Amino acid sequence: MSTEENQMNRREALALMGSSAAGFALMGSAMATGDSIDTKLRATLPKFTIASRALLRHVIHDPAFRGAISPQDTALLTKNESLTTDELMLALLPLAQSYARPPISNFFVGVVVRGASGTVYLGSNIEIPGQCLGFAVHGEQSALSKAYMNSEVSITALAVVGGAPCGHCRQFMEEMSPDGEIALLVPGKPTRSLSSILPDAFGPSALGAKQGALPIRKTQLQSVGGASDMLAAAALDAATRSYAPYSQSPSGVAVRTTRGQVYQGCYIENVAFNPSLSPLQTALVQLIAAGEEYSAITSVALAELQGARITQRPVTETVLAAVAPKVTLRMVLAKA
Ligand code: THU
Ligand code: ZN
Repeated sequence: MSTEENQMNRREALALMGSSAAGFALMGSAMATGDSIDTKLRATLPKFTIASRALLRHVIHDPAFRGAISPQDTALLTKNESLTTDELMLALLPLAQSYARPPISNFFVGVVVRGASGTVYLGSNIEIPGQCLGFAVHGEQSALSKAYMNSEVSITALAVVGGAPCGHCRQFMEEMSPDGEIALLVPGKPTRSLSSILPDAFGPSALGAKQGALPIRKTQLQSVGGASDMLAAAALDAATRSYAPYSQSPSGVAVRTTRGQVYQGCYIENVAFNPSLSPLQTALVQLIAAGEEYSAITSVALAELQGARITQRPVTETVLAAVAPKVTLRMVLAKA
């Protein structure tokens, strides 16, 4: 057996041990290539048929992959695997988990969400190296933000390993579905609704909002100086699709990498304020889903309303300094 094969088998074995931090850390180290995707799929979905893994390899290898599996591919996977869609979501959890970036806790969280379109989204937690714990993105937030970025009209179900989403995530879910009808899928437990695990919710209506974050409502914005280039235009576009009913301060980020890919991130507010996602957090979720490394980031633009009540600039600069210290944040000022 060659050294390479040996290494791959070792990685697979470690990953199969469950949420072993060592296993996932090894797997995460080389992701972008077709070979590494194969390794990841064999390690996380050992019971899947070869046809299903080949399909997923094709989906993940696409440079446009942002953690979303289309309704058509989801239907093919349920057929191949003889699973219901709910069962498939639970079966995909180890794959979602393998995308986690938790350098502080070494605790790998995987989540799978389904939108009204039938698209399924993989989510995983992100911790910002060396920075405050409050900058972490929970796996649930990651998966839900992908559904948001993909313009889902509503969320129908969320699958998670372990007991149930934490309180912070329940509050974030409330904003995505104020009617509390998201179905919670937990391995080995009966399906429950969000409202059953978050009774007496503090919802958007507490601050006078008429509806939650979905469906997206666009804000008309134009660049003060005229959108100068593609990255600025992408950041501005993300700002127009952001959700900021409480601060009235829309904002968006665009991140470019050495591959030439651009990752957009919308600001997503929460009625309880703290669970809000900053636009760079949302953009990093997209970048990680595409299998990219922070070291590939070459430029970042943040679009905000000129004279807005609050600014994302300091938090964006702090997080950016932690993940891509050589990159200077570009500001794009907008007016309504
Ligand atoms: N975490 C989640 O992603 N979801 C939860 O519901 C519980 C906690 C993450 C946050 C942090 O990265 C790590 O797990 C430890 O709390
Ligand atoms: Zn949580």
